[in-house]
Amino acid sequence: MKNKRLIIAMISISLFLIVGIFLVVEYLGQFFNNTNQDFIVESAQRLPIPVLLEDENPKVDESDFTLIVQQGITNFFKDVDTPTMGYNTNFLGPVIRVKRGQTVNMHVINELESPTSVHWHGLEVLGSQDGGPHQKISSGSSWDPSFVIDQAASTLWFHPHVIGTTATQVYYGLAGLILIEDDNSLSQSLPNDYGVNDIPLIIQDRSFNQDGSFQYSNNMMDGVVGDYILVNGAITPYLDVNQVNMRFRILNGANASNFNLKLSNNDNFFQIASDGGLLESPVEMNQLFLSPGERAEIVIDFSNYQENDQIILTSGNDAVMTFNIKEKINDHTSLPKTLSVIERMYESQATSIKTIELDGMGHMVTLNGRKFDMNRIDDNVRQNDIEIWEITTTSRMMMGSQGHPFHIHGTQFQVLSRDNKTPYANEMGWKDTVFIKSGETVRIIVKFKHKGVFMYHCHILEHEEAGMMGQLEVY
Ligand code: C2O
Ligand code: CU
Ligand code: CU
Repeated sequence: MKNKRLIIAMISISLFLIVGIFLVVEYLGQFFNNTNQDFIVESAQRLPIPVLLEDENPKVDESDFTLIVQQGITNFFKDVDTPTMGYNTNFLGPVIRVKRGQTVNMHVINELESPTSVHWHGLEVLGSQDGGPHQKISSGSSWDPSFVIDQAASTLWFHPHVIGTTATQVYYGLAGLILIEDDNSLSQSLPNDYGVNDIPLIIQDRSFNQDGSFQYSNNMMDGVVGDYILVNGAITPYLDVNQVNMRFRILNGANASNFNLKLSNNDNFFQIASDGGLLESPVEMNQLFLSPGERAEIVIDFSNYQENDQIILTSGNDAVMTFNIKEKINDHTSLPKTLSVIERMYESQATSIKTIELDGMGHMVTLNGRKFDMNRIDDNVRQNDIEIWEITTTSRMMMGSQGHPFHIHGTQFQVLSRDNKTPYANEMGWKDTVFIKSGETVRIIVKFKHKGVFMYHCHILEHEEAGMMGQLEVY
């Protein structure tokens, strides 16, 4: 008995020491890695607006879109070439705009030298069309999934999902947005003129090596973070805005960083949509937290500002982008009191309650005590069944992760509670990714409408790749 305690004590002490040494090495490592003081940030870079992808199908209720996955060169800094990847372009990709009810035929051509896949994050489709690790597209070949859009108006996104290279391919630039509209969203008085008062913001962070290439350093900390914030592929850009309501569709497209968005003057804005669609009514806030994979649509009313005012969108101590206020013009838009009707799912409808335990940090992560195995189905669900999932993360003093953004493929869910308390007002709508703080338990209710194999995982891409992922089969 005594011996046993002694051994446990000794193991704990040595673990403590190992972790301590590791953290010190990490900390010192920062000073040796550091990088690009001599780069000149192209000051006053205008916010790039991704193009709307051309629909090649003349029919109204059917669309054909082509995505070419390719390599390219991007100039994030003046006269510095950074090798990147993109869809139909050098970095990031176009916006795919579709309407509920439409049949969509996608044509994905992989011109990379390595395999990829294109996963439609947030889209409710069959497992075989989802673009997860099982739908690998090898170099030089193509993939042509088809689906019918059957979910509420929302801002979704797409990105690679191949085993072993998801995180790096996203880091190099593979990500794009899907905008779904429906009769409700189009009848709203909300800003919806794409690129004019309806603006996508893909927020990411990146680091660079001396030679200008991306510095992807998976340093065993909690995923890969960067020194610079990019919005739509430009370092802390600016956007000219008139004194009107502006709608921003924001994606946290970072590999691992959370963003906590605020306006430099601390003014309020309104969140109107979460991952899976419009909220029931706008939620007023002065701070928006987004973990990797999450989206939010917000409306900022610029009508109270003066011409030449500058307002900075910040995250913590970092500037994300600048709004330069321009003239006062007529605004035909407004913020409705009611945005949508969300049919709630009730606990009494659930056929089972499942537990998901997210544990560890760095490479030492597990989901329900084990690591992802492509040849193992972790869970079976009958089609149209409703389930409650209790997602927990252990909090640990030394090895404590900052928390995990938990995502399920092929469905939109509702948050029931956070540590037994009512969820935040802005997460009372449809979600496909929910942040679980260290030590917290979040209960969600979820219905699986489509058959096939789907992933669920932490959306810190380095955690996902280290095995914090499982797969379920809907039958
Ligand atoms: Cu953004 Cu497995 O997903
Ligand atoms: Cu997904
Ligand atoms: Cu995680």
